[in-house]
Amino acid sequence: MNIAVFVSGNGSNLQALIDAGRAEKLSAGKIALVVCDQPEAFALRRAQKAGIPTLVVEGNDYASREEYDRRIIQRLRQDNVELVVLAGFMRILSGHFVNEYKDKILNIHPALLPDFKGARGIKDAYEAGVEITGVTVHFVTEELDSGPVILQERVRIEKDDTIKTLEEKIHKVEHKLYPEAVKMFVDGELVNSE
Ligand code: GRF
Repeated sequence: MNIAVFVSGNGSNLQALIDAGRAEKLSAGKIALVVCDQPEAFALRRAQKAGIPTLVVEGNDYASREEYDRRIIQRLRQDNVELVVLAGFMRILSGHFVNEYKDKILNIHPALLPDFKGARGIKDAYEAGVEITGVTVHFVTEELDSGPVILQERVRIEKDDTIKTLEEKIHKVEHKLYPEAVKMFVDGELVNSE
């Protein structure tokens, strides 16, 4: 099953998926393409090092979100992509894209949804002073960070945690959880009934 991973930045989750694939932990899943909106993203270097084809599409070059997404869809079709995995991709997908890949788009969020939606999930939880936060893998729907939950794992915020140590703990859990969820999808164990 061909998988496209969408990234914008560091790409540590992409790396975890690449490593899982190498260790044959994604079943029949294969990362066939990495899509990125930032030409300087470190994630692109990770993809190149792993020999995975990349598609860089910059937002500024397109008049609308849908036009941008159509360009990507064209390539996904060409590459027979059956699963889209968002891993720190900082653009919101259009309704057109979400419909086109309905129930075939996963996202990872660094908090226990529905708590702390948005781009600052770790920081918001830390600043709110909660004792428990965590990681969520979910299906993507049109509404941001709101699709059906697939897997969640809790992370305790200890008294001596700083934002930095919390980030490290969250990322460690992400790197374990995301490959697990992708494998479940590839194995046909996930059915979005909503
Ligand atoms: C992760 O914390 C993920 O939960 C969020 O964006 C971050 C991406 O990090 N959606 P990386 O680029 O995979 O290192």
